[in-house]
Amino acid sequence: MSEPLLTASGITVRFGGLVANDNIDLEVAPVGITGLIGPNGAGKTTLFNVLTGLNRPTSGSVAYDGQDISRWSPHRRARAGMSRTFQRLELFGGMTVRDNLLAAWEASIPGGVMGRRQSEGRQLVDEVIARLQLGAVAGRQTGELPTGIGRMVELGRALCTRPRLLLLDEPSSGLDAKETAHFKEILVEVTDPEQAVQSEDGRGAPAVLMVEHDVRLVMDVCRMITVLDFGKRIACGAPDEVRNDPAVIAAYLGEPAA
Ligand SMILES: Nc1ncnc2c1ncn2[C@@H]1O[C@H](COP(=O)(O)OP(=O)(O)O)[C@@H](O)[C@H]1O
Ligand SMILES: [Mg+2]
Repeated sequence: MSEPLLTASGITVRFGGLVANDNIDLEVAPVGITGLIGPNGAGKTTLFNVLTGLNRPTSGSVAYDGQDISRWSPHRRARAGMSRTFQRLELFGGMTVRDNLLAAWEASIPGGVMGRRQSEGRQLVDEVIARLQLGAVAGRQTGELPTGIGRMVELGRALCTRPRLLLLDEPSSGLDAKETAHFKEILVEVTDPEQAVQSEDGRGAPAVLMVEHDVRLVMDVCRMITVLDFGKRIACGAPDEVRNDPAVIAAYLGEPAA
Protein backbone atom coordinates (compact mmCIF):
# COMPACT_ATOMS: atom_id res chain seq x y z
CA MET A 1 0.00 0.00 0.00
CA SER A 2 1.22 3.51 -0.76
CA GLU A 3 1.72 6.15 1.92
CA PRO A 4 -1.30 8.31 2.79
CA LEU A 5 -1.28 11.76 1.14
CA LEU A 6 -2.65 13.35 4.30
CA THR A 7 -2.33 12.14 7.89
CA ALA A 8 -3.91 13.79 10.90
CA SER A 9 -2.63 12.48 14.24
CA GLY A 10 -4.17 12.92 17.66
CA ILE A 11 -6.23 15.99 16.74
CA THR A 12 -7.96 17.59 19.71
CA VAL A 13 -9.99 20.80 19.42
CA ARG A 14 -11.59 22.43 22.44
CA PHE A 15 -14.07 25.30 22.29
CA GLY A 16 -14.20 26.44 25.90
CA GLY A 17 -15.49 23.43 27.80
CA LEU A 18 -16.63 21.59 24.67
CA VAL A 19 -14.32 18.97 23.11
CA ALA A 20 -15.30 19.15 19.43
CA ASN A 21 -12.49 16.77 18.36
CA ASP A 22 -11.08 14.31 20.87
CA ASN A 23 -7.71 12.78 19.88
CA ILE A 24 -8.73 11.95 16.29
CA ASP A 25 -6.55 10.11 13.75
CA LEU A 26 -7.40 10.29 10.05
CA GLU A 27 -5.64 9.21 6.86
CA VAL A 28 -6.44 10.22 3.28
CA ALA A 29 -5.19 7.89 0.53
CA PRO A 30 -3.34 9.43 -2.44
CA VAL A 31 -5.89 8.03 -4.89
CA GLY A 32 -9.67 7.76 -4.72
CA ILE A 33 -12.26 9.16 -2.34
CA THR A 34 -11.94 8.89 1.44
CA GLY A 35 -15.03 9.58 3.56
CA LEU A 36 -15.55 11.32 6.89
CA ILE A 37 -19.03 10.86 8.28
CA GLY A 38 -20.96 11.28 11.50
CA PRO A 39 -24.23 12.69 12.83
CA ASN A 40 -24.79 16.45 13.11
CA GLY A 41 -22.47 18.00 15.67
CA ALA A 42 -20.05 15.04 15.57
CA GLY A 43 -17.09 17.31 14.84
CA LYS A 44 -16.65 16.81 11.08
CA THR A 45 -16.42 20.47 10.05
CA THR A 46 -14.14 21.19 13.01
CA LEU A 47 -11.72 18.49 11.87
CA PHE A 48 -12.04 19.63 8.26
CA ASN A 49 -11.07 23.15 9.31
CA VAL A 50 -8.03 21.78 11.11
CA LEU A 51 -6.96 20.04 7.90
CA THR A 52 -7.41 23.20 5.81
CA GLY A 53 -5.70 25.40 8.44
CA LEU A 54 -8.74 27.43 9.47
CA ASN A 55 -8.77 25.93 12.99
CA ARG A 56 -5.64 25.58 15.13
CA PRO A 57 -6.00 22.33 17.06
CA THR A 58 -5.47 22.35 20.82
CA SER A 59 -3.13 19.42 20.18
CA GLY A 60 -2.19 17.04 17.39
CA SER A 61 -0.50 17.40 14.01
CA VAL A 62 -1.23 17.25 10.29
CA ALA A 63 1.16 15.90 7.65
CA TYR A 64 0.71 16.34 3.90
CA ASP A 65 2.90 14.66 1.31
CA GLY A 66 5.41 13.75 4.01
CA GLN A 67 5.69 17.27 5.49
CA ASP A 68 4.40 18.55 8.80
CA ILE A 69 1.99 21.33 7.76
CA SER A 70 0.47 21.91 11.21
CA ARG A 71 1.66 25.52 11.25
CA TRP A 72 0.93 26.35 7.63
CA SER A 73 -1.68 29.00 6.80
CA PRO A 74 -4.77 28.03 4.75
CA HIS A 75 -3.24 29.96 1.85
CA ARG A 76 0.02 28.02 1.94
CA ARG A 77 -1.88 24.74 2.06
CA ALA A 78 -3.94 25.81 -0.95
CA ARG A 79 -0.77 26.70 -2.83
CA ALA A 80 0.58 23.23 -2.08
CA GLY A 81 -2.39 21.69 -3.89
CA MET A 82 -4.99 21.33 -1.15
CA SER A 83 -8.25 22.76 -2.50
CA ARG A 84 -11.47 22.99 -0.52
CA THR A 85 -15.18 23.63 -0.93
CA PHE A 86 -17.56 24.96 1.70
CA GLN A 87 -20.67 23.43 3.31
CA ARG A 88 -22.45 26.69 2.45
CA LEU A 89 -21.77 27.87 -1.07
CA GLU A 90 -19.11 30.57 -1.31
CA LEU A 91 -19.16 31.68 -4.94
CA PHE A 92 -18.86 35.12 -6.49
CA GLY A 93 -22.60 35.54 -7.15
CA GLY A 94 -22.21 38.54 -9.45
CA MET A 95 -19.77 36.75 -11.73
CA THR A 96 -20.54 34.26 -14.45
CA VAL A 97 -19.81 30.57 -14.03
CA ARG A 98 -16.94 30.85 -16.50
CA ASP A 99 -15.43 33.86 -14.70
CA ASN A 100 -15.73 32.10 -11.33
CA LEU A 101 -13.70 29.22 -12.74
CA LEU A 102 -11.16 31.48 -14.42
CA ALA A 103 -10.69 33.48 -11.20
CA ALA A 104 -10.03 30.25 -9.29
CA TRP A 105 -7.43 29.22 -11.85
CA GLU A 106 -5.74 32.66 -11.80
CA ALA A 107 -5.60 32.70 -8.01
CA SER A 108 -3.81 29.35 -8.08
CA ILE A 109 -0.96 30.52 -10.31
CA PRO A 110 2.08 31.61 -8.28
CA GLY A 111 3.12 35.14 -9.25
CA GLY A 112 -0.03 35.78 -11.31
CA VAL A 113 -0.85 35.13 -14.94
CA MET A 114 0.88 36.64 -17.94
CA GLY A 115 0.54 36.36 -21.72
CA ARG A 116 0.54 32.87 -23.07
CA ARG A 117 -0.63 31.29 -19.85
CA GLN A 118 -4.02 32.95 -20.23
CA SER A 119 -4.82 30.48 -22.99
CA GLU A 120 -3.82 27.57 -20.72
CA GLY A 121 -6.32 28.82 -18.17
CA ARG A 122 -9.09 29.16 -20.71
CA GLN A 123 -8.40 25.68 -21.98
CA LEU A 124 -8.55 24.19 -18.49
CA VAL A 125 -11.74 26.13 -17.71
CA ASP A 126 -13.33 24.93 -20.97
CA GLU A 127 -12.45 21.34 -20.15
CA VAL A 128 -13.85 21.62 -16.63
CA ILE A 129 -17.06 23.22 -17.97
CA ALA A 130 -17.47 20.34 -20.40
CA ARG A 131 -16.68 17.62 -17.85
CA LEU A 132 -19.07 19.05 -15.26
CA GLN A 133 -21.75 19.61 -17.91
CA LEU A 134 -21.94 23.35 -17.19
CA GLY A 135 -21.92 24.46 -20.84
CA ALA A 136 -25.54 25.66 -20.82
CA VAL A 137 -24.97 27.95 -17.82
CA ALA A 138 -21.36 29.05 -18.41
CA GLY A 139 -22.41 32.63 -19.22
CA ARG A 140 -24.93 32.97 -16.37
CA GLN A 141 -24.22 34.71 -13.07
CA THR A 142 -23.80 32.10 -10.33
CA GLY A 143 -26.03 34.07 -7.95
CA GLU A 144 -29.07 33.31 -10.06
CA LEU A 145 -28.47 29.56 -10.37
CA PRO A 146 -30.03 26.82 -8.22
CA THR A 147 -27.99 25.16 -5.45
CA GLY A 148 -27.49 21.96 -7.46
CA ILE A 149 -25.64 23.86 -10.16
CA GLY A 150 -23.87 26.03 -7.57
CA ARG A 151 -22.39 22.88 -6.02
CA MET A 152 -21.11 21.80 -9.40
CA VAL A 153 -19.58 25.26 -9.98
CA GLU A 154 -17.86 24.98 -6.61
CA LEU A 155 -16.40 21.62 -7.58
CA GLY A 156 -15.33 23.21 -10.87
CA ARG A 157 -13.60 26.08 -9.08
CA ALA A 158 -11.67 23.60 -6.97
CA LEU A 159 -10.68 21.55 -10.04
CA CYS A 160 -9.48 24.69 -11.83
CA THR A 161 -6.78 25.10 -9.16
CA ARG A 162 -5.41 21.69 -10.31
CA PRO A 163 -5.48 20.24 -6.78
CA ARG A 164 -3.66 17.17 -5.54
CA LEU A 165 -6.11 16.90 -2.69
CA LEU A 166 -9.71 17.99 -2.89
CA LEU A 167 -11.45 18.59 0.43
CA LEU A 168 -15.25 18.64 0.17
CA ASP A 169 -17.43 19.68 3.11
CA GLU A 170 -20.94 18.21 2.71
CA PRO A 171 -21.15 18.53 -1.07
CA SER A 172 -24.69 17.08 -1.07
CA SER A 173 -25.95 19.74 1.35
CA GLY A 174 -29.05 21.39 -0.13
CA LEU A 175 -29.29 18.92 -3.01
CA ASP A 176 -32.26 16.67 -3.77
CA ALA A 177 -31.84 12.96 -4.56
CA LYS A 178 -31.50 13.50 -8.30
CA GLU A 179 -28.94 16.30 -7.93
CA THR A 180 -26.97 14.21 -5.42
CA ALA A 181 -26.87 11.29 -7.86
CA HIS A 182 -25.63 13.60 -10.61
CA PHE A 183 -22.97 15.11 -8.35
CA LYS A 184 -21.83 11.63 -7.35
CA GLU A 185 -21.48 10.49 -10.94
CA ILE A 186 -19.40 13.52 -11.93
CA LEU A 187 -17.22 13.35 -8.81
CA VAL A 188 -16.40 9.71 -9.40
CA GLU A 189 -15.44 10.53 -12.99
CA VAL A 190 -13.14 13.46 -12.30
CA THR A 191 -11.35 11.65 -9.49
CA ASP A 192 -10.77 8.49 -11.51
CA PRO A 193 -7.13 8.51 -12.67
CA GLU A 194 -8.25 7.08 -16.03
CA GLN A 195 -10.71 9.90 -16.68
CA ALA A 196 -9.18 12.86 -14.85
CA VAL A 197 -9.10 16.42 -16.15
CA GLN A 198 -5.56 16.73 -17.50
CA SER A 199 -3.52 19.84 -16.85
CA GLU A 200 -0.33 20.92 -18.58
CA ASP A 201 1.81 20.35 -15.52
CA GLY A 202 0.84 16.72 -15.60
CA ARG A 203 -1.19 16.66 -12.42
CA GLY A 204 -3.82 13.99 -12.77
CA ALA A 205 -6.81 13.02 -10.67
CA PRO A 206 -6.91 14.57 -7.20
CA ALA A 207 -7.34 12.50 -4.07
CA VAL A 208 -10.53 13.44 -2.22
CA LEU A 209 -11.60 13.74 1.38
CA MET A 210 -15.36 14.02 1.47
CA VAL A 211 -17.11 15.09 4.65
CA GLU A 212 -20.72 14.02 4.41
CA HIS A 213 -23.93 13.71 6.30
CA ASP A 214 -25.42 11.54 3.53
CA VAL A 215 -24.22 8.06 4.51
CA ARG A 216 -25.47 6.41 1.34
CA LEU A 217 -23.46 8.75 -0.87
CA VAL A 218 -20.28 8.05 1.10
CA MET A 219 -20.84 4.28 1.16
CA ASP A 220 -21.22 4.31 -2.63
CA VAL A 221 -18.04 6.16 -3.56
CA CYS A 222 -15.47 5.83 -0.75
CA ARG A 223 -12.83 3.16 -0.30
CA MET A 224 -12.20 4.04 3.33
CA ILE A 225 -14.47 5.79 5.81
CA THR A 226 -13.80 7.35 9.20
CA VAL A 227 -16.79 7.83 11.49
CA LEU A 228 -17.05 10.48 14.21
CA ASP A 229 -19.62 10.76 16.97
CA PHE A 230 -19.61 13.37 19.75
CA GLY A 231 -16.08 14.42 18.81
CA LYS A 232 -14.62 10.90 18.96
CA ARG A 233 -13.55 8.54 16.20
CA ILE A 234 -15.84 5.55 16.64
CA ALA A 235 -14.91 3.57 13.50
CA CYS A 236 -12.60 3.46 10.50
CA GLY A 237 -12.66 0.96 7.64
CA ALA A 238 -14.03 -0.07 4.27
CA PRO A 239 -17.74 0.69 3.62
CA ASP A 240 -18.88 -2.85 4.44
CA GLU A 241 -17.05 -2.92 7.77
CA VAL A 242 -18.36 0.50 8.75
CA ARG A 243 -21.91 -0.25 7.63
CA ASN A 244 -22.14 -3.23 9.98
CA ASP A 245 -20.33 -1.67 12.91
CA PRO A 246 -22.64 -1.63 15.97
CA ALA A 247 -21.19 1.69 17.22
CA VAL A 248 -21.93 3.33 13.87
CA ILE A 249 -25.45 1.93 13.71
CA ALA A 250 -26.10 3.17 17.25
CA ALA A 251 -24.75 6.65 16.46
CA TYR A 252 -27.02 7.02 13.45
CA LEU A 253 -30.05 5.50 15.17
CA GLY A 254 -29.92 8.34 17.64
CA GLU A 255 -30.40 10.77 14.75
CA PRO A 256 -33.74 12.23 13.76
CA ALA A 257 -34.60 11.08 10.22
CA ALA A 258 -33.31 13.59 7.65
N1 LIG B 1 -16.37 27.96 16.63
C1 LIG B 1 -17.02 27.22 17.51
N2 LIG B 1 -17.18 27.62 18.80
C2 LIG B 1 -17.82 26.84 19.69
N3 LIG B 1 -18.35 25.62 19.42
C3 LIG B 1 -18.22 25.18 18.17
C4 LIG B 1 -17.56 25.93 17.14
N4 LIG B 1 -17.59 25.20 15.99
C5 LIG B 1 -18.22 24.05 16.28
N5 LIG B 1 -18.61 24.04 17.58
C6 LIG B 1 -19.29 22.92 18.26
O1 LIG B 1 -18.49 21.77 18.06
C7 LIG B 1 -19.30 20.62 17.85
C8 LIG B 1 -18.94 19.99 16.53
O2 LIG B 1 -19.39 20.85 15.48
P1 LIG B 1 -19.07 20.58 13.96
O3 LIG B 1 -17.64 20.30 13.80
O4 LIG B 1 -19.65 21.71 13.18
O5 LIG B 1 -19.91 19.24 13.68
P2 LIG B 1 -20.43 18.59 12.31
O6 LIG B 1 -19.76 19.29 11.17
O7 LIG B 1 -20.08 17.14 12.43
O8 LIG B 1 -21.92 18.78 12.28
C9 LIG B 1 -20.75 21.09 17.94
O9 LIG B 1 -21.19 20.85 19.26
C10 LIG B 1 -20.63 22.57 17.66
O10 LIG B 1 -21.68 23.27 18.27
MG1 LIG C 1 -20.52 20.29 9.39
